[in-house]
Amino acid sequence: MPDNSSINLINIPDASPYLNTLLKQIYDEFYVSDEKVDEIIKGFHDEMRAGLDEHNVLLPMIPSYVTGRPTGKESGSYLALDLGGTNLRVCLVTLNGDSTFDMIQQKFTISQEAKDFTLFDWIAQCVDIFLEENKISYDDFTKPTPCAFTFSFPIDQTGIARGNLIMWNKGFSVPNAVGRDIVTLTQNAFTRKHVNVKIVAIINDTIGSLMASAYTNPNCYMGIIFGTGTNACYWEKVSNIKKWSTGNLDRNPDEMIVNMEWGAFDNKLQVLPFTPHDNKLNRKSQNHGLQVFEKMISGMYLGEVIRNAILWLVDRRVLFGGRSSEILNNAYSLDTAYVSVIVADDSPNLDEVRMFIESTLSIPGTTFTDRAVVKNVCKLIGGRAKRLSAAAMCAVLLWRPEVLDNPITIGVDGSMYQFYPKFAESLKVEAIRVLGKEKADNLNIILSKDGSGVGAAVVAMTVSKPAH
Ligand code: BGC
Repeated sequence: MPDNSSINLINIPDASPYLNTLLKQIYDEFYVSDEKVDEIIKGFHDEMRAGLDEHNVLLPMIPSYVTGRPTGKESGSYLALDLGGTNLRVCLVTLNGDSTFDMIQQKFTISQEAKDFTLFDWIAQCVDIFLEENKISYDDFTKPTPCAFTFSFPIDQTGIARGNLIMWNKGFSVPNAVGRDIVTLTQNAFTRKHVNVKIVAIINDTIGSLMASAYTNPNCYMGIIFGTGTNACYWEKVSNIKKWSTGNLDRNPDEMIVNMEWGAFDNKLQVLPFTPHDNKLNRKSQNHGLQVFEKMISGMYLGEVIRNAILWLVDRRVLFGGRSSEILNNAYSLDTAYVSVIVADDSPNLDEVRMFIESTLSIPGTTFTDRAVVKNVCKLIGGRAKRLSAAAMCAVLLWRPEVLDNPITIGVDGSMYQFYPKFAESLKVEAIRVLGKEKADNLNIILSKDGSGVGAAVVAMTVSKPAH
């Protein structure tokens, strides 16, 4: 049995020597040491520097054109669209001017057809339904409703309301969109459907998290998404963004939020502990060779890396007596939500794990050893995701260490952060190790739940007049 002290693996008394050897191999591949974290932090700094200096390098480090910090005194009602990997939320957000807000919202699940073909017309249709049902529709076409669009895919921003799609990810593939301005594509769909709405700002979802948290905590410095995908943004000095010229801004701001697109970190695989199980996923993915960091830590992929490792053990006949099932054989059948349940199962016989394998995966008659192996594999690979996530956060904090001389807030959203056991705790533990207790004590990491809508409204406020 491998050393399990730091990951708290279950002891498997009946494990054969061969099973132990294979588990040790998986452990060695997925375990992330302190030294590895330090190496990754250094790798991040190298790529951040290159990304701020030049265009088209590995880490995009995209200037967002968001330059004003909220005060909490912003007020007015704004329409906000929040397009994530799974849902579109259409919201009417009312900022009350006292750090509080009210919101009405409607969630629409994005169909595969929309992801593959009809996305922009589908968005227009959802907005139309929302406006109609909430009676926000205006007949006066000279006064369209201002709207901010939170878009959780990488765009090369050329203004606060302009940005060309760099690439799709998270399973989207709408044709003729890469390289084109997302605001124009969406606005054209609004025109086709006579939806009287004008997009006044487009922001990344990490910026939504940052700005929403800043509305209640003006010292918010960073926004992070640990969800279906992953990414972060933070306040950077404009003088540090060497590749940026004032663009179409009419003033010279001191600072600007930079959308890092950190899912693209180390696409050349120089420091990340990338295993053959990751590679199997990568090779078969739609964006092969891209977003490799995201593929190691985010909710869309975590279950799939674990499925690969489980099948590797099945193929060596040390798990489930060498049997698989049709379900387990299907790519992406192991949803990351199950991983959270498995890792949290502390019952003596691993009853939740049994339920998952026997009912969900349709593999009957599991032994305790089978269940313990599955739990250990989930803990190891999930543990790696937590550690790498924390390393990325610490890298950004160490980039401008002076910001930690005072209390700062980080707004975080996403299913991994919310539901994966002890995720938030592991960010804090790593921060104490890397930054030291004193600086780490200045960190206030908060859940920016559904922050994208509020954050978008805050940005919309800075660039236009309210909807009411
Ligand atoms: C996208 C980012 C986004 C992140 C979190 C990634 O796949 O490239 O733009 O912020 O997911 O949703």
